[in-house]
Amino acid sequence: MDASTAAAILISLVLSVGAQAPVVSIEPRVVSVRQGESVSIRCIVDGSQHPITREWKKSNSPRLADNVKVSRDGSVLTIADAQPDNQGQYRCVAANPAGRTSGTAVLNVRYPPTVTLTPAGPLRVRVGEPVSIECRVTGRPRPSLKWKRLGSPLDLVTKATEDVNTLEWALLRPEDSGVYACQAQNNEGMTEVKVEVTVQNQGTPVASVAVELITAVQGHTVTMECHATGNPTPVVTWSKLRAPLPWRHTVSGGVLTLTEVGRQDSGQYICNATNVHGYSQAYTQMEVEAPPYTTILPEQVRLRAGDALRLQCLAHGAAPLSFQWSRAGRAGLAPGAETTGDGQLLIARVKLSDSGTYKCVATNHLGASEALGKVVVKN
Ligand SMILES: *[C@@H]1O[C@H](CO)[C@@H](O)[C@H](O)[C@H]1NC(C)=O
Repeated sequence: MDASTAAAILISLVLSVGAQAPVVSIEPRVVSVRQGESVSIRCIVDGSQHPITREWKKSNSPRLADNVKVSRDGSVLTIADAQPDNQGQYRCVAANPAGRTSGTAVLNVRYPPTVTLTPAGPLRVRVGEPVSIECRVTGRPRPSLKWKRLGSPLDLVTKATEDVNTLEWALLRPEDSGVYACQAQNNEGMTEVKVEVTVQNQGTPVASVAVELITAVQGHTVTMECHATGNPTPVVTWSKLRAPLPWRHTVSGGVLTLTEVGRQDSGQYICNATNVHGYSQAYTQMEVEAPPYTTILPEQVRLRAGDALRLQCLAHGAAPLSFQWSRAGRAGLAPGAETTGDGQLLIARVKLSDSGTYKCVATNHLGASEALGKVVVKN
């Protein structure tokens, strides 16, 4: 051990004997704010002890949220626009060479209830089927939760756990049709979400489609099947949302057949099952994919030697698309030409010899198509 090391050890011994770990007090230690309010918490350290650092941490959290700021010397923690996530324990750790001490503040953030229903409804259910609707709430203080039927003063019998209240029917009866509301309340406010339940008679039509989403290739034949139940047997019709059915179509036994589909046939198709009790609709969405349709912007461009050239190749069609540029009558592009993955052709300074016709070929998994662009360069 040399003399300077020995001196350093001696100094640190003297310091640890002479100094005391900091004494920390937190002000306030428990604080409750409304969502959106701001609050500051102080970490007060006994002045005589020269703490070196003060540091704030939130328990069970690796870092402080973005709306939580700490003053430069660590003495004040400020939470601006408090949010439910900010709730928790904040710990101030003060350290000097003699040791570390910490103090903790508890922050509560109050906010009005928010309610989610699963399923969200409206619900169409057949007589005799079981149904349950779950009402889930968040809010602080913990909201009270109840179900009501609109137009009826009676509270409903439901199954409740901490944050969830479930409205249940083992067997639905026709008279259960109506509007139900889940109400949540705490000191910060009241929230109500409604759901309509329609109980259908046994004979009421129910339509369903075999496939809800169809991706078809241009030029192919597509069939859509609709299954309908009801008594008397419903009549099934097909239509297209906001457009007539494509003219190349046939309907037979609830099956819609479209031949040689094109991109314009994409859209939502509606199956309608109707009888004396009413009707029911089911939907199939069809997307028709096609080889790219390609254009070049601008189609023609006149430049002076030394100008910059930029041609954009545009393609409509199923992704992913790739682009390839070439020059009519030439083996390759001029050495100064650059192309990008999104279909651009760039020449920083055009020369007279760059005049000519440029071709872009766009390709996807269904095919390719090309477009031409003309470039004229003058002195
Ligand atoms: C389904 O049929 C019913 C009864 O005929 C009618 O009121 C309704 O508009 C139809 N829906 C469509 C999408 O055609």
